[in-house]
Amino acid sequence: MTADSRPRYAHLTGWGRYAPAGVLTNADLARMVDTSDEWIVSRTGIRERRVAAAHETTASMAAVAAKRALAVAGLGADEIDLILLATLTPDYWMPATAALVKEAIGNTRAVAMDIAAACSGFVYSYSTAQAYITSGMARHVLVIGAELLTRFLDYSDRNTCILFGDGAGAVVLSASDEPGGGLGIELTTEPQGAYMIWLPSGGSKSPPSAETIARGEHYIRMEGRETYRFATRTLVSTALAAIDHAGLQLADIDLIIPHQANVRIIEAVAKGLDLSMDRMFVNVDRYGNTSAASIPIALAEAANSGRIRVGDRIVIVAFGAGFTSGAVAIEWTADPARGALGEAIGPDSVTVRPPVDWDSVDPIPDALAEILARPGPVPLDLSDVVPGEPEHAKVSR
Ligand code: ACO
Repeated sequence: MTADSRPRYAHLTGWGRYAPAGVLTNADLARMVDTSDEWIVSRTGIRERRVAAAHETTASMAAVAAKRALAVAGLGADEIDLILLATLTPDYWMPATAALVKEAIGNTRAVAMDIAAACSGFVYSYSTAQAYITSGMARHVLVIGAELLTRFLDYSDRNTCILFGDGAGAVVLSASDEPGGGLGIELTTEPQGAYMIWLPSGGSKSPPSAETIARGEHYIRMEGRETYRFATRTLVSTALAAIDHAGLQLADIDLIIPHQANVRIIEAVAKGLDLSMDRMFVNVDRYGNTSAASIPIALAEAANSGRIRVGDRIVIVAFGAGFTSGAVAIEWTADPARGALGEAIGPDSVTVRPPVDWDSVDPIPDALAEILARPGPVPLDLSDVVPGEPEHAKVSR
C-alpha cells in the first residue's frame, strides 16, 4: 500500500452477517444452572443466542459475513486493500484470524490484521478503516466483527453463561470524494475497568496449565453491576461526542445502533438521550451479547429490514472490556435493497484451510455439548457441515 490520493470520505458500501444455526434458549440454560427464562428476560431482554457447531470457527463465520458484505458492495475479493477483524475469540493466538479470512474469501493482496478491543472492537476497527481510507492508504476496507464466545464460558456460572452468543458481521468501507459515510468518531479507553471483564489465563501473564484450567481461569469473568454502570454512563457520552464531532445534533439522528448486551442498558441509554425506543435498534433478544459481532450483525439487520434509508444519519455505539467505548456517526449512502445480494450468498461458500497434521479436540465445552445433545423444547440440529440459518432467523425485507 502507498499513500497516493487522499479521498475525503469513507462510505459504507457493503454489509453482511452470519448467525450459526444452533439455538440455545433460556430454557436450555435453566437445565444447566439455577436460572429461569423469566429472570433472564426481565434482567437482560435475551431470549436465545446462537451456538457455533463444532466445525465452525471465528474465521469461518467471519468469512461468510465478509463474502455477503462484498456481494452487497459489488466488489470482487481482490479489490479489498485491508481486512480488519475485531475479535476477542480468535481461532488461534497466531496467526491473526484476519489472515485466515483473507484466504477463505479468495483475496490475494490485502493486508490483514486482528484488532482487540472486546465489544468495542468493531467500532475501533471501523475508525481504523476510516483513517486508512481518508489518508489515502486504502480504497476499500473490509471491517469484520466475529466472535465464538460460547467456547469461553463457564456453564456453571449463571452470572455470565446466560449473556453471550456466537456470530459475525461485516461491512465494506470505500473511498469517495462525495460527502457521506463516517462523519464523526469518538473512542475512549478507561483502564481502571481492566479487571471488570476479563479472561485471566492463556496469555503471557498466566500461560495455560492444568492448574489454570482446574481453577476455571480460561473462562470469561465479569463484574456485572460495575460494567452495567459504566455502560449506561459511557454509551450516552460517547454517542453524543461522535454526533458533535460530525457537526450534527441529536435531533438529526434517525437510528442508534448500540452494542447489544442488555435491553435494560439500551433502554437506559434511550432515556439518557431523551429518545424513544423506536430510534434504538434492538436484536439482543435473539442473539445475546456477541461482543465485537453485535453491532455489524445489528447494522446488517437494520439495513435489510427497512430501518435505514438513503440519507439517514445513524450512530453505532459500543462499550466493552478495557473499559473501552466507541461511536461513529454515519450518513448512509448505499441502497438498502442491495442487502438481498448478500443474503443470497450461501454459508457453504467458504472454506477455512485447516492446519496440516492437526488433531483438534472437540471444541464445544462438555456442559454445553450435553445440553445440545439432549434438546429441550427447541430442537437443535448442529449436524450440518456448514449450516444455513433457521427460517425464523431470516430478516424480512
Ligand atoms: N439467574 C438467576 N439469578 C441470577 C442470575 C441468573 N442467570 N445471575 C445472577 N443472578 C442473581 C445474583 O446471584 C444475585 O443474587 P443475590 O442478590 O442473591 O446475590 C441477583 O441475581 C442479582 O444479581 P445482579 O448482578 O445484581 O443482577 P443485575 O440486575 O445487575 O443483572 C447482569 C446482572 C444482567 C449481568 C447486569 O449486571 C448486566 O447486564 N451487566 C452488564 C453486563 C454487560 O453488559 N457485559 C458486557 C460486557 S462487554 C464485553 O466487552 C465482553
